[in-house]
Amino acid sequence: MIYYNLKIDYNSTYMKPDELRNLYLNSFKKNSHQIVPSSSMVPENDPTTLFTGSGMQPMMEYLLGAKHPKGTRIVDSQKCFRSQDIEEVGDNRHTTFFEMLGNWSFGDYFKEDQLKWFFEFLTKDVGLDPKKLFITVFRGNDKLEIGKDVESVEIWKKIFATVGIEAKDIDFSEKTGLQNGRIFYYDETKNWWSRAGIPDKMPAGEPGGPDSEVFYDFGADKKIHENSQFKDQVCHVNCDCGRFLEIGNNVFMQFQKQADGSFKELAQKNVDFGGGFERILAVKNNIDDVFQTALFEPIIAFLEKISGKKYLKSDATSGTGKTGAPDRGLAGGADRGSAQGGAEKTKHSFRVIADHMRAAVMLAADGVYPSNKEQGYFARRLVRRSIRYAKMIGIDQLFVADLVPVIVEIYSSSYPDVNKKLVQIQNALAQEENKFAKTIEKGLKELEKYQEMTPPVALDGAIAFRLYETHGFPFELTQEIAQEKGQKISLEEFEKAKKNHADKSRDASSDKFKGGLQDSSVQTTKYHTATHLLHAALRKMLGKHVQQKGSNITVDRLRFDFSHPEALTQDEKIRVQDQINEWIDAALPVKVEHLKKSDALESGAIAFFIEKYPDEVTVYTIGNGDEWISKEFCGGPHVKNTSEIGKIEIFKEKAASAGVRRLYLK
Ligand code: SER
Repeated sequence: MIYYNLKIDYNSTYMKPDELRNLYLNSFKKNSHQIVPSSSMVPENDPTTLFTGSGMQPMMEYLLGAKHPKGTRIVDSQKCFRSQDIEEVGDNRHTTFFEMLGNWSFGDYFKEDQLKWFFEFLTKDVGLDPKKLFITVFRGNDKLEIGKDVESVEIWKKIFATVGIEAKDIDFSEKTGLQNGRIFYYDETKNWWSRAGIPDKMPAGEPGGPDSEVFYDFGADKKIHENSQFKDQVCHVNCDCGRFLEIGNNVFMQFQKQADGSFKELAQKNVDFGGGFERILAVKNNIDDVFQTALFEPIIAFLEKISGKKYLKSDATSGTGKTGAPDRGLAGGADRGSAQGGAEKTKHSFRVIADHMRAAVMLAADGVYPSNKEQGYFARRLVRRSIRYAKMIGIDQLFVADLVPVIVEIYSSSYPDVNKKLVQIQNALAQEENKFAKTIEKGLKELEKYQEMTPPVALDGAIAFRLYETHGFPFELTQEIAQEKGQKISLEEFEKAKKNHADKSRDASSDKFKGGLQDSSVQTTKYHTATHLLHAALRKMLGKHVQQKGSNITVDRLRFDFSHPEALTQDEKIRVQDQINEWIDAALPVKVEHLKKSDALESGAIAFFIEKYPDEVTVYTIGNGDEWISKEFCGGPHVKNTSEIGKIEIFKEKAASAGVRRLYLK
């Protein structure tokens, strides 16, 4: 590994990430909140989503009335990952991984305290100028029978009055402009929050409510709006020009959608607050670009060193109008060719790599390694997209192994487990990089063959798909190469080829899903139960990041694939094997139940291919009563008692793919 001196000088007034995080936690601790650690980004027993994408997700059951063991006031900083934002990254504020500062009232305090405390945190603890803070509230909607949030408006007016600001409320600023207002009303597309989005999209049972957001103003004098692509539209706080940045969202989680589409008050009125950690850090330091905070600067500096290119800095205090405002349009090529456009494109690439590699490291620390399934698929995309963007700024060498420690260092004191897993993370991500480098090489060779044919074969969707399917060669690359040769391949063509392929393979594999069983002879049934014991033993010994990735059973042996970044040591293999044999010797009963999917999940049953299961599911539990050691969704069949299995032995261990290990037992 090469050592890069990436020391960045921060002046004494610069606020560091750890400092801000602690300020927030302590600010709410002062108001009787209990600090809890971040949950994993892989939700436990939440089949609705692959990742934790907001601070409230792990708090769902408490918002619905369950008692939190730590009480009714909770505060944390939650690691979040939004996979849907992968292709959005590139502007001054969107990232796939982020930390969400969160505080909750589970039927405890409500609007008055929340708004006051958050304002105090921003203005007193962080020290933001109250004149730069702007507010939005829910306009109300007759159809939903939920009125205008005048209560929040009155509270905000009182709060601003304490700092000598008269806060005028304005409706329809999106049409009329700011009009010297401080508080602005918006409809449910902006000021309503639920996991599913707007009220219409919420399924019955889902909780949600109106919210009040806080924005930071980088200042009218900077001419940010006038210099943006939105200059011909009215500027208001939710305008995309980049003048205003949303930094916090106070959700009044007080309604639940009913089966008939109406909304009923929940038994308890909750507060769900989410604050953008990266964003507050940026505005505190008067920077309108999260990539210029201490959370990213070392990464950017590293990329500058190895690429020899410069990241175009924006300076909110300079008044030059170079704001780092959304530049997605530029990345699309509108500005290609001009010097500024080139620098913007480079900046976009820097941001994508910095975001994606940071996310890949943090996901790996939570047990998500690049693979072709579920969560792992996104980890793979992050690394591969980083490599593609690195090529665009002239980085042709392998760089991942050197970059990982730079990222780990940023989080080493706040998330010590990331530090502990450094080598593991480094190996897994570098392995993915190597693999992708080979993929690219193979794909390029194959593409050349098409060109060398006489006459040359025109590249099309089917070829692009074949390359993708056999080598994992990214569609966008085939598209780019085709473009260089004056040929065009549309995404639709590619998607069509993909769909054809999927339809065919679905027919072919329709009877493959019987728990990986080829027959149900006595021996295979024993192995099938042993699979559950193995899964439970691995999760117990190695950690909850272990997830079944597949299994295959014959009369001679069982094969089991699972997520884990590295080979098992001899000692680990023996411990896993001993644990299984111990459970077999304990003659544990195997119980089968038919349950509603939601009840099954609530009971703690694990299911890794959740979409495959109907509403009514079969759950197999191994163990005595509450002391069960394994509970899984499964179609069976299984033995009735673990003693029927007889001794087992792990006889082989190898890699199945990146981040996935394969064990053989007999
Ligand atoms: N759930 C809200 C959000 O994600 C606030 O925490 O914005």
